Amino acid sequence: MTSKNNISTSKTALISGITGQDGSYLAELLLGKGYIVHGIVRRSSSFNTGRIDHIYNNNPELKDSRVFLHYGDLTDSSNLNRLMEKIQPDEIYNLGAQSHVQVSFEVPEYTAEVDAVGTLRFLDAIRETGVKSRFYQASTSELYGNTLVRQNSHNASLIKSLNEDTPFRPSSPYAIAKLYAYWITINYREAYGLYACNGILFNHESPRRGETFVTRKISIAVARIMTGKQDVLHLGNLDARRDWGYTPEFVDGMWRMMQLDEPDDFVLATGESHSVREFITESFRFFGEEIYWEGSGIAEKGYLQSTKKMVIGIDKSYFRLTDVEFLLGDPSKAKEKLNWQPNTSFKELVKILVEADLALIKNS
Ligand code: NAP
Ligand code: GDD
Repeated sequence: MTSKNNISTSKTALISGITGQDGSYLAELLLGKGYIVHGIVRRSSSFNTGRIDHIYNNNPELKDSRVFLHYGDLTDSSNLNRLMEKIQPDEIYNLGAQSHVQVSFEVPEYTAEVDAVGTLRFLDAIRETGVKSRFYQASTSELYGNTLVRQNSHNASLIKSLNEDTPFRPSSPYAIAKLYAYWITINYREAYGLYACNGILFNHESPRRGETFVTRKISIAVARIMTGKQDVLHLGNLDARRDWGYTPEFVDGMWRMMQLDEPDDFVLATGESHSVREFITESFRFFGEEIYWEGSGIAEKGYLQSTKKMVIGIDKSYFRLTDVEFLLGDPSKAKEKLNWQPNTSFKELVKILVEADLALIKNS
């Protein structure tokens, strides 16, 4: 891929993970603010720029082209150093990661290479090149693990939400790699005076969410079931609870963290938690259908109220060796210091996903 450095008075950003869910929305947001956006893209045997094709144009003939892609990988430090020197970004958003929790149990070493050491490589590229870049690290609510469940196991009335001061107890190779990334970001801030911040983001979803994450897996399947294209959806732990927000609002929070006088770490969350089961129920309600449940454990099944047809089954291969049962975030600090507030309700979020998948099915 070609690249070029435009001479411009606007800010320049470099995004790792630009081809992912968050990277694509962030690139759009930054373009809207007048940024020149550079992105790191992994070489792939097939096209992997589907989420950004509408904004990316590396054709030098096009005068308004402000997105530039560069081959690279978080496992390759020489490449990161070269990109730093060439692009000299004002802001770096490190969103690139092996981001699937269950997959991290299958590829733990690779996950550590990319998610933990990859973050170090980026920070060190800033230090070594001396480029004055601000750095955003995509930290995660997975860092907390089951802190909330343990805190409240003796008394449900003590349920609290998780904030920047809550201790972490990660419980997957993914979360443990991200814990290293969280702390190395803080260490480089303190040791070298870098503007480096952690966004501790709770789950956020959109029609661009990867299809193997639970929300998108449900919205696609429910749209297919309700249009007669699929019979049954198999899932794992239906009672896991997540604090699910809407991605475009969350990337705005990332940008706000990078505009402060002093770097700091922030939780972005909605402050509401819902179970996978509720997500299923709400998805079927979009079509005016109710679900009822019979059986328990891996024998549990969900049926359509109207036809008594079985539509949800359990498959034990989707259970995790150690799962995070309950996430609920407290975004008070982001509200106060970033003036950030999510506006999309759970019901609206489910509607956005199911509606988009229904449209995809109808147009395919
Ligand atoms: P995603 O859709 O899975 O995107 C991940 C991105 O990272 C993709 O562009 C992927 O490239 C890229 N990538 C993977 N391995 C790489 C490597 N070795 N070198 C360079 N790039 C690599 O994830 P997302 O939902 O947008 O999340 C963005 C970041 O936020 C991730 O770091 C994730 O862990 C973190 N996070 C996400 C959430 C959430 O709810 N979405 C919450 C908290 C934190 P390909 O397109 O080539 O695969
Ligand atoms: N993926 C998946 N597939 N999850 C399922 C399934 C299934 O068939 N059935 C139940 N679940 C449960 C999982 O066990 C988990 O408790 C919950 O649904 C959410 O799973 P995911 O959607 O895969 O997301 P995640 O919470 O593990 O991780 C996402 O959010 C993190 C922030 O908390 C990812 O985006 C991470 O990168 C991110 O850090």
